[in-house]
Amino acid sequence: MNFKDLKKKFVSLYGEGDVRVFAAPGRVNLIGEHIDYNGGKVFPAALEMANVVLCRTRNDRKIRIAADDLSHKVESDLDHLEEKKGKEWGSYQLGVCDELQKAGYPLVGCDMLFWGNVPFGAGLSSSASIEVATAIAMATLGMEAAGKKTELNLIELALICQKAENNFVGVNCGIMDQFTAAMGQKDMSILLDCNSLNYAMVPMELPGYSIVICNTKKKRGLADSKYNERRAECDLALACLREVFPDLDALCSLTPGQYEMHKDVFPSETIKNRAAHVIYENARVMEAVACMKQGDWFGFGRLLNASHTSLKELYEVSGKELDAMVETAQETEGCIGARMTGAGFGGCAVAIVKDEYIESFITTVGIAYTRLTGLIPEFYVTRAGEGARELSVAQ
Ligand code: GLA
Repeated sequence: MNFKDLKKKFVSLYGEGDVRVFAAPGRVNLIGEHIDYNGGKVFPAALEMANVVLCRTRNDRKIRIAADDLSHKVESDLDHLEEKKGKEWGSYQLGVCDELQKAGYPLVGCDMLFWGNVPFGAGLSSSASIEVATAIAMATLGMEAAGKKTELNLIELALICQKAENNFVGVNCGIMDQFTAAMGQKDMSILLDCNSLNYAMVPMELPGYSIVICNTKKKRGLADSKYNERRAECDLALACLREVFPDLDALCSLTPGQYEMHKDVFPSETIKNRAAHVIYENARVMEAVACMKQGDWFGFGRLLNASHTSLKELYEVSGKELDAMVETAQETEGCIGARMTGAGFGGCAVAIVKDEYIESFITTVGIAYTRLTGLIPEFYVTRAGEGARELSVAQ
């Protein structure tokens, strides 16, 4: 980020004066996919790639939003936010303002300029990072303007952002992305229990290995509708299991052993497969965390591979491009495990690669992937970054 240029742009849009700067990162999920909304445990990490918002309060209730790389601008009013419901850029930010107000935060009008380097629509949660950056900015500025103490509860803000995406944007997402964007810590992955929101930071120490994110460059076209479809299928699976376990609160509260004993309760093979993915994926997360703590990278890698197979065959949220990327990565020297990450249907894969092979891995996988799909991929070698925060910048 070049703050000077961004500040110039801010001034050309909104006039002279100081600005405040807030940031929130994207995320990569190492393992535990499509189980956050089933009360499961997930194992994501915040990225160094982030969305940043430059902002300045106004004396009225107007909200003006612009982005460094979009000509599109959005204007609204804190008293008429609902008019802008939908999936447009800008709805994410306005939805957050709406839910913040509903949760009782005092907000003030604000001019905002967004900049980000989290690739959009790539399964790295650029939308959650925009939401959380907006939430921390608007909540901080609103509380200050109201003369209130500004010790923010970041988990509460993450829940507010999730509500904004559910209610205002219309995507029924779980809590993983917003939680990670809010709470991430440098060099840590988060073991998050999505049922209780209890969490533990696990040092992301991979001596000799790195996390390589492989962007298929296939946009997640069908993702939102298929995502809501999967959620409905999981609800049905849960309803079936409640015939046997009346008090079952979430699919992930069932063990693989219990599933195996009762897998004839489902009305179709599809619903049975969806439940199998969810229940076994949840068990894989705890195994993966144990592997990471013991430094068993091969074990960790094998679990990543198993997760991908399950997402492809049982949960059916992968796709030609993700499979081409993951399968090529898995066969390439130096890679000990790879899987799709995020909602699927395009977007990114995550691979664990031995450091001395990173360059050759990127070249080999890149060439093979382009041959298979005609698309030019991108690769990011990354470590875990920090969660939501205010940045102090010289004006
Ligand atoms: C999207 C959602 C998350 C989670 C993942 C799949 O990123 O926003 O809540 O469900 O998909 O694991």
